[in-house]
Amino acid sequence: MEMKTGFKLETMLVSDNHLPTLLGECLPEQRVYEGLEGVLAGRTAICDIDGDVGALQFRGIDIRELAEHSNYEEVVYLLWTNELPTSNQLWAFKAALAAEREVDAGIYEILRFLSHYMKPMDALRTAVSALASDNPGEDNTSPESRLAKAIYLTAKFPTLVAYYCRESQGKMWVRPDPKLDHAANFLYMMHGRRPTPVEARAMDLTMLVMVEHGFNASTFAARVTASTLSDMGAAITSAMGTLKGPLHGGANQGALEMLFEIGTLDRVEPYIDAALSAKQRILGFGHRIYRKAGDSRVPFIKNMLYQLCAQSGDFHLYELADAVAQTVWEKKRLFANVDFYLAPMLHMLGISVDLLTPFFAMCRIAGWTAHVMEQYANNRLIRPGSLYVGPVGRPYIPLDQREGAIVPNF
Ligand code: ACO
Repeated sequence: MEMKTGFKLETMLVSDNHLPTLLGECLPEQRVYEGLEGVLAGRTAICDIDGDVGALQFRGIDIRELAEHSNYEEVVYLLWTNELPTSNQLWAFKAALAAEREVDAGIYEILRFLSHYMKPMDALRTAVSALASDNPGEDNTSPESRLAKAIYLTAKFPTLVAYYCRESQGKMWVRPDPKLDHAANFLYMMHGRRPTPVEARAMDLTMLVMVEHGFNASTFAARVTASTLSDMGAAITSAMGTLKGPLHGGANQGALEMLFEIGTLDRVEPYIDAALSAKQRILGFGHRIYRKAGDSRVPFIKNMLYQLCAQSGDFHLYELADAVAQTVWEKKRLFANVDFYLAPMLHMLGISVDLLTPFFAMCRIAGWTAHVMEQYANNRLIRPGSLYVGPVGRPYIPLDQREGAIVPNF
């Protein structure tokens, strides 16, 4: 990068071939777990994943039971309080969430401005940051105030996503409807019409399945931020920045773009062959935890995709996705992860491709806040060590004696 001043700042880069020698000098017990794979980085009572058998539990309850009998609000209550609500508690909780859906005019104004300049995930991260900013004098330390903040953020996030979507498409804003449940209200704000029962169920189930998933990268980022005793809004902003990446929540967008690019069943095999021979990552495939048994969330989302296709009478996207999943399995022995089926399923619900990752964040915000509260409740600063692999004992060479190494121009 050339600086405006015309100066060229030249710095020495350590070339990769220094690393083996330096690593070779490490003591055997100084093992580095790249990507923290296999490291237990903390304790949690929120979510248990057994990747070997594809099992997932929230607060000890199997996801299959929750998916069959429960709903998004009930599961959020469970995640935040460790208990399933009674019917009165659930009613009061739904009312509390519904009452918090509106956002201040200033936040709409910020988002309206950003919607014309920024991609959705960036605009929404900035809007959430503004929405959640710590107010001077606000009590952020009691469990009650933290729970209130979690309700505040979880209730308002869908409003921001829907507002961004309609504003960027030049459509009239649809205000939240407090009579609708969380998931149905989101679809209502997006499309300006009440969802069909199949659509409302698909949205609710998807949000329930996506709400939480242990120490994934974005949740871990939120916990790292919370561990410094920074505020919940800062932790959620960290999580959003982390979710955006294509190796994490950003994969769904790439997966849907790939399905569109493939287009027809006869193009699946040549496309996958070409991608694999070019050593490309196929977005929506593979998972750090679910290498043996596949992603526990896929059957639910795939089933909802099927039902939405049945509602429309058009199974093309379902068949195409299935053919891609089958082919990648045959060629590379990789399972489709939740992002792969989430993308076409949301497309069938009328969510545009650039809103897939914000939608993911909208589901996950309740899980993030659950982890942030758990971190605060039993906090120790998260501060891992690192293995230094750079040069040692280098002399400081005075400025006028430096020859200059080959480095990028700044
Ligand atoms: N396409 C092609 N090859 C893959 C893929 C993929 N999607 N995923 C893993 N591999 C291969 C790697 O090339 C590597 O092969 P090699 O040993 O021959 O080099 C091997 O599988 C292991 O891969 P790692 O990157 O070491 O596995 P890791 O656990 O670090 O990565 C990840 C997991 C990032 C999810 C990876 O599978 C990936 O990049 N997937 C695509 C992105 C994606 O779908 N992300 C969403 C994850 S789910 C979620 O966040 C909700």
